[in-house]
This record gives sequence, structure tokens and C-alpha cells, in this order.
Amino acid sequence: MTSSQPRASGIDRLSAHHLHALAVAVLIDRYLKVDPTPGRLADLAGKVAGFAEKELFPHFQVEETALFPALRQVLDSDPLIDELIAHHRNMEKLVGRLAGSSAQGRASLLRQFGASLRRHIRMEEVELFRQIGAQLDEAGREELGRKVDEAAGAMGLTVHRLW
Ligand SMILES: [Fe+2]
Ligand SMILES: [Fe+2]
Repeated sequence: MTSSQPRASGIDRLSAHHLHALAVAVLIDRYLKVDPTPGRLADLAGKVAGFAEKELFPHFQVEETALFPALRQVLDSDPLIDELIAHHRNMEKLVGRLAGSSAQGRASLLRQFGASLRRHIRMEEVELFRQIGAQLDEAGREELGRKVDEAAGAMGLTVHRLW
């Protein structure tokens, strides 16, 4: 995307979440590397679950109810969108298994979650958002941004404090 193609505010809102989620992935790596004791892993698992429930899963819902349906109508990217939705379900499953896992299981789940989050965000930012910039005109981008903003408002979606 070039600076001559401003992004709609709704898309910028999602990108702000993506940056926040990448910060969570960095924190997961750091915890796992520096102090992966059972107590610290339990603490990290609780924080990650809180972030997921308050911010990440509502973000998935905004994408799935507003962004993706609108994009299916204007872009030829159904396989990519299907794959992104499969990532969402997989990350929800990983987080759902955190609470009932052993310390060793938690370390593995957290590692998988962090890696999946990075891969997913890269795919949305680099592949999906680039297509929006390349294939929608300004009016199309604005309409898309409005739909995302409406869905985000209805969900009460904000960027939460990390910990
Ligand atoms: Fe996203
Ligand atoms: Fe997503």
C-alpha cells in the first residue's frame, strides 16, 4: 500500500490490535525463555487467556461478522479467508486448553499460540490488507472501514491493557 491510498479507520483499528497481539507474542517468548517455571507459566497462561477473552476473540468476531463477509463480495480471496477463519478456531482451542494443562503442556500450548498468532497477523496484514489497498477504491475502503467500525462499536471493542 502506498501513502496515496489512505486506509479506512476501521482497518487501522484492526491493525492497532494486531500490533498489540504481536506484543503479546513477544511477551510469551520472553516468559518461555527467561523463567518457564510452573508458577510463572500458570501466571502467563492466565494473562494470555484474559487478553484472548477481552480483546482477541472479540477481534475475531468483528473480522468474521463484518470484514470477511464484505471482502468475500469484493475480492477473490475465499481460500485465504477460509484459512484465516481456521486459524481463529485453532487459537481459540489452544487458549481453551491452557487452564486444564500441566506446566509442560502449558509451555507447549503457549508456544503454539504465540507462533500461530504471529503467522496469522502476518497473513492478514501482508496478504489480506494489501489486497484491500490494491483492489478497492477509496469509496470501497471507506465503506469497508465503516462496516468494521460499526461491528467494533457493537462489540465494545477496544485495545485493553495487556496485563
Ligand atoms: Fe486480525
Ligand atoms: Fe484474524
